[in-house]
Amino acid sequence: MADRQISPELANYMNGTRVALALANVDDDHRLAMVNKAFCDLTGYGSEEVVGKNCRFLQDSASRGRSENTDARTDIHRFLTEPQVETVRTPIVNFTKDDRPFVNLLFMSKLKGSNGKTAYIFASQFDVSRSHLSMLHDYDAQLSQAISGLSPVLQESGLIIDGSLATIANSAAMIAQAKMILSQLESAKS
Ligand SMILES: Cc1cc2nc3c(=O)[nH]c(=O)nc-3n(C[C@H](O)[C@H](O)[C@H](O)COP(=O)(O)O)c2cc1C
Repeated sequence: MADRQISPELANYMNGTRVALALANVDDDHRLAMVNKAFCDLTGYGSEEVVGKNCRFLQDSASRGRSENTDARTDIHRFLTEPQVETVRTPIVNFTKDDRPFVNLLFMSKLKGSNGKTAYIFASQFDVSRSHLSMLHDYDAQLSQAISGLSPVLQESGLIIDGSLATIANSAAMIAQAKMILSQLESAKS
């Protein structure tokens, strides 16, 4: 599918939010169309280094190779291939540009045109392994706010966002597990 142009209003809106956000085109490999400043701050990559690439590069570590993330990738594949799956929310092991591991709580949704076809994939990233419960709740509130504010901006481009942000059922357990994964990754560094 030919890439659509991201409107300046949409780009400005995304850049103005404090949570990490990314948009990907719906092409054969979901290449990133834009990332905001908070995404660059979180991952250490500049926007010019990542636009045009599939975001799976965040799963690659220079010292540890690619992390498997089997369950997370299965959930993401289901979301990307099944039209009735509106959103996905999953922890996934990622690495910053300077090879620091983190567990990314990845949220993804679909931006659809008036014809019902997906025009972009929308995503938000959060380091849940260096977080605690109140930080996760703050992030959820900020992401919900960002999504609500996004709707009128999207409307101008004839787009709507699918689904809504589901909160994590047992956030405390998820944070604890993310911290455990992080400490294993940090101690496994060669
Ligand atoms: C907009 C968008 C943002 C994404 N963000 C991330 C991310 O931050 N971290 C990550 O590990 N994967 C991210 N992904 C998922 C990967 O790009 C990819 O879809 C996933 O690894 C499953 O495909 P694969 O098994 O072919 O790698 C994102 C995908 C899209 C479309």
